[in-house]
Amino acid sequence: MGANIIYGKELATELREEMRQEVSELKAKNIVPGLTVIILGEDPASLSYVRGKQKASEKVGMESKLIEMPETTSEQDLLDLISEQNKDETVHGILVQLPLPDHISEQKVIEAIDPAKDVDGFHPINVGRMMTGQDTFYPCTPYGILVMLKKAEIETKGKHVVVVGRSNLVGKPVGQLLLNEDATVTYCHSKTPDLAFHTKQADIVIVAAGKAGLVKGDHIKEGAVVIDVGVNRVDGKLVGDVDFASVEPIASHLTPVPKGVGPMTITMLLHNTIKAAKKIND
Ligand code: GUN
Repeated sequence: MGANIIYGKELATELREEMRQEVSELKAKNIVPGLTVIILGEDPASLSYVRGKQKASEKVGMESKLIEMPETTSEQDLLDLISEQNKDETVHGILVQLPLPDHISEQKVIEAIDPAKDVDGFHPINVGRMMTGQDTFYPCTPYGILVMLKKAEIETKGKHVVVVGRSNLVGKPVGQLLLNEDATVTYCHSKTPDLAFHTKQADIVIVAAGKAGLVKGDHIKEGAVVIDVGVNRVDGKLVGDVDFASVEPIASHLTPVPKGVGPMTITMLLHNTIKAAKKIND
């Protein structure tokens, strides 16, 4: 028997329909959730991604602004733009697409965003709130994974979760969110000597390493849940960090790439923006 395939895409569609309703109810109270997405440069993958974010926010009825700036934009000009967006009362969420060009400090930019508008959940204040188990804006991909697990009725309490990857965007926060849910969490990364030794003990394996096909069938125990966050282009095809063919017969649940975790990231961004709009208008 093969794994149950968890399609984030289906859940994303369902949740966005609920959000469309919620936005329409907010609009009746003269609250229009507003999102500003800022991108520097013309990397095709990043551009297509942010246009997707903008389109999705418009589709649920939000006020959406996409600001495209040249790659040569100075750090100060970007910080000034963020400061304007911080002051703009029609803007509830601000997202600066990462990575940024080398001449700009990502950390400075992240810390310039008003924590109350930080719908990415990257500001140290929001990261700290998440670490201490408080309600805040959680980073979108980790939050999307949590919602997917809950929707699939996968128990996390007391389970051993092994996270492969330790990025600030995905690996670290997903482990923290699951720790908050009473899981036992192990982090593995590129310097972990024997990856399979750890992943084989996991009830849930979350792979966010950015390495195509890294986790194979012999890395996991029978019946484990495997969440693939990887997005790699191999010979023009999108593939994850998990070798789907060898893992699928062994796992109890598995997310595909594409149509797995990816669509949930944008969905949680919309969720965070609605949350920001409601909070400011409380
Ligand atoms: N680049 C890749 N994923 C993300 C994300 O979730 N937020 C931002 N700001 N940049 C990204």
